[in-house]
Amino acid sequence: MKKVEDYVRSIPDFPEEGIIFRDITSVLQDADGLQLAVDSMQNLVKDLDIDVVVGTESRGFIFGVPIAYNLHKPFVPVRKKGKLPCETLAMEYDLEYGSAEIEIHTDAIKPGQKVVIVDDLIATGGTIEAAVKLVEELGGEVVKIIFLMELAGLKGRERLKGYDVASVICYD
Ligand code: PRP
Ligand code: ADE
Repeated sequence: MKKVEDYVRSIPDFPEEGIIFRDITSVLQDADGLQLAVDSMQNLVKDLDIDVVVGTESRGFIFGVPIAYNLHKPFVPVRKKGKLPCETLAMEYDLEYGSAEIEIHTDAIKPGQKVVIVDDLIATGGTIEAAVKLVEELGGEVVKIIFLMELAGLKGRERLKGYDVASVICYD
């Protein structure tokens, strides 16, 4: 039987020389791969008592929404700057390649709510560190952070010390 990592395509030198891009489109375009990826991530939170699933644009939406749907929990999008129409809280962060700013609606998380944050991949950890700050500034409690893939060599976990972090696939 195929494992979830068998569905991931690795592209050298994309989008820049030296980056190995871990492509999830090859996972998504296979019905078994998609199901296995969502189920494997969901399995990481199966025993938790949570109120909200937060996902980061855009690949965090792909996995965050089906997990929220299956758990019958609300989904809150953290979006790139300028996309959310109501009052937002914003945070700047650095990427493995470049920098960006993300936002959340200020009414999306209520103080005391238990939050799981979902993304497809952790590289430097900059995106998720910014998402954690947004959730916490709104009074949410980050009970777990889950990824389909972790690029361990970039030491993103070190930026998330003290949090419960889990990934399905770990690359060196
Ligand atoms: C990618 C990926 C993570 C982030 C990981 O998103 O989906 O969100 O980078 O990098 P980091 O751990 O160094 O922050 P990207 O910003 O490329 O946006 P996309 O999901 O819209 O492609
Ligand atoms: N986002 C940041 N680094 C990445 C990588 N190496 N592969 C896929 N997505 C990424």
